[in-house]
Amino acid sequence: MKNVLRCMLLAGFTASAVPAIAQAPAAPAAPPAPAFAASNLTPNGIRAMAATCAACHGTNGNSAGGAIPGLAGTNKEYFVNQMKAFREGKREATIMHQLAKGYSEAETNALGDFFAAQKK
Ligand code: HEC
Repeated sequence: MKNVLRCMLLAGFTASAVPAIAQAPAAPAAPPAPAFAASNLTPNGIRAMAATCAACHGTNGNSAGGAIPGLAGTNKEYFVNQMKAFREGKREATIMHQLAKGYSEAETNALGDFFAAQKK
């Protein structure tokens, strides 16, 4: 389990490093999101966001057990509050404080609806 988790953590860090390199600042002001960028707030977009959680939390939030909690069937309000607490550094975390920062409030709400609707 330890090695698997370490591998996933590395994968997570690598994935988050890529956009940072791709967006190396050429101009002082960040350019607006390109018009062709797909919204995450479509059914496919929400599934794609949730799929990035699956490496650790299991497919559709059904964790294989162990140290990482499952997300399937999680109460939406609890979910949104935890994501906010991670983002704001109010809940201690090994990794979620970093990951939670990558999602807007609307995306976090959509993920909350998605995981609340998943069967445990
Ligand atoms: C690299 C592994 C990893 C990934 C990827 C990951 N998580 Fe987590 N998650 C954790 C760990 C570990 C915890 C326990 C808190 C901590 O140490 O960060 C956790 C805890 C949580 C909790 C709190 C659950 C509870 O019962 O209190 C929520 C909510 C959560 N994650 C949401 C997400 C969402 C949403 C995604 C995808 C956008 C995601 N996580 C992706 C590892 C991960």
